[in-house]
Amino acid sequence: MYRQTCIVILTFLLLIYPSGNQASRIFDVNGIETILALENETLTIECKTDMPMAYCGFIHPNGSRYSFADSTLTAGHCAVKLNATKRDEGQWRCHIGTAVSGKTATGVEIMQSIQVRVVGHVAAIQQNITAVHGKPITLACATTKRMTPLRYCRFEPPDTNKYKHFGIDSGVTEKNAILNRFYFPSNKSTDRGDCAVTIKRVKYDDIGLWTCGAGLEDGKEHIDFISLEVEGFYTISTASATGITFGAIGIAVVLVMLGFVAWKKRSFLVGTRRETPPPAEEHELQHLEGSPPRSPRTGRHVPLVVVQSPSEASASPAQVES
Ligand SMILES: *[C@@H]1O[C@H](CO)[C@@H](O)[C@H](O)[C@H]1NC(C)=O
Ligand SMILES: *[C@@H]1O[C@H](CO)[C@@H](O)[C@H](O)[C@H]1NC(C)=O
Ligand SMILES: *[C@@H]1O[C@H](CO)[C@@H](O)[C@H](O)[C@H]1NC(C)=O
Ligand SMILES: *[C@@H]1O[C@H](CO)[C@@H](O)[C@H](O)[C@H]1NC(C)=O
Ligand SMILES: *[C@@H]1O[C@H](CO)[C@@H](O)[C@H](O)[C@H]1NC(C)=O
Repeated sequence: MYRQTCIVILTFLLLIYPSGNQASRIFDVNGIETILALENETLTIECKTDMPMAYCGFIHPNGSRYSFADSTLTAGHCAVKLNATKRDEGQWRCHIGTAVSGKTATGVEIMQSIQVRVVGHVAAIQQNITAVHGKPITLACATTKRMTPLRYCRFEPPDTNKYKHFGIDSGVTEKNAILNRFYFPSNKSTDRGDCAVTIKRVKYDDIGLWTCGAGLEDGKEHIDFISLEVEGFYTISTASATGITFGAIGIAVVLVMLGFVAWKKRSFLVGTRRETPPPAEEHELQHLEGSPPRSPRTGRHVPLVVVQSPSEASASPAQVES
C-alpha cells in the first residue's frame, strides 16, 4: 500500500549557490550516489522528494545529526551545507518524514545513502576496480569542478605493464584505439571534465595502480590513482596457491588410493586366474594331447562333406585328404 500510494522520487543534488564554488560533482557508482568534493570548498548535500516533508535530517558519517523542520521543507527539499574536509568523507544518510496529511500518511520515513569523498581537483570516480579477464573495463577520473574542460587527459599504466603512457581524448574511439587496446568511452567528455579510458579486453598485465593525469586551467597536471584488479587472478596466483597445493595433494592421495585398490583387485583377479584356469589349460592340453588333432577337423569334415556340391569337387579332395 505504501509503495502504491507513495511513489517518491528521491534525489540528492548538489546545489550551486551563487556564493559557492562549483567544486563538487555527483556520480552514480554502482547505484550509489557519490559526491566528489574539493577540499575547503562549499559542499551542499540535498535531499529531495516530490512530496511535502514534515521533517528532514542528515546523519554525518561520524554520527552527528543535522535536522531541519522549517517551512522551506514543504517545497520538498532540504540541504546541509558545509566546508568540505576529509572528516566529512564517508557514507551520509538522509531521512525524510513525509507530511502526515490525508490517506498517504504512514509515518514511514524515506531513507537514502550518499557517499562523500573529499578529493583534489581531479579524482578517480572509483578508486578500486575489479575487471573480468578478456572483458572491457573503464577507468575514469573527473575534475571536481563541473563543466571544466580539460586541456589534456593522460594515463600511466602500472609499472609492471609493458604499455607506455598515453594521452587520450574523445577522438580516440573503439575503431582507432591506441595500441588497439585503449579508447575514450563514448559517453564521457573531456569538455565536461572527464578523463577516462576503456580497456578493450583486460589482461592480467593490466593489474596494478593506474595513474590518470588531467591538465587544468591552472596549467598544472592533477593526478589520481585507480587500482585495477582482475577477477580470479589473485585467487589463482596467491591466495589459493595453498588451496591448489592441498587440492593437488588431495588428488594425488586419491590417485594413489585408486591405484592401490586397482592393484589389490588385479592381484586378486590374477590370483583367481591362477587358481581356476590351470585345470582348464591342463584339460585343453590333455584334450589336445590325448585326442588326435584331426578329430575336431574330421568332425568339421562331416558338414563339409554333406554341404559339398559336385561343382566344388576340386576343393573337397584336399580336405578329405587332410
Ligand atoms: C584546506 O584548509 C586547511 C585549513 O585551512 C589547510 O590546512 C589545507 O591545506 C587546505 N587544503 C587545500 C587542499 O587547500
Ligand atoms: C562530526 O563532524 C562534524 C563536521 O566535521 C563536526 O562538526 C562534529 O563535531 C563531528 N562529530 C563528532 C561526534 O565527531
Ligand atoms: C566555510 O569557510 C568559510 C571561510 O573559508 C567561512 O566563511 C564559512 O562560514 C564556512 N562555512 C561553513 C558552513 O562552515
Ligand atoms: C581500495 O583498496 C585499498 C587497498 O586494498 C583500500 O585501502 C581502500 O579502502 C579501498 N578503497 C575503496 C574506496 O574501496
Ligand atoms: C557509459 O557507458 C558504459 C558502457 O559503454 C556504461 O557501462 C556506463 O554505465 C555508461 N555511463 C553513463 C554515465 O552513462
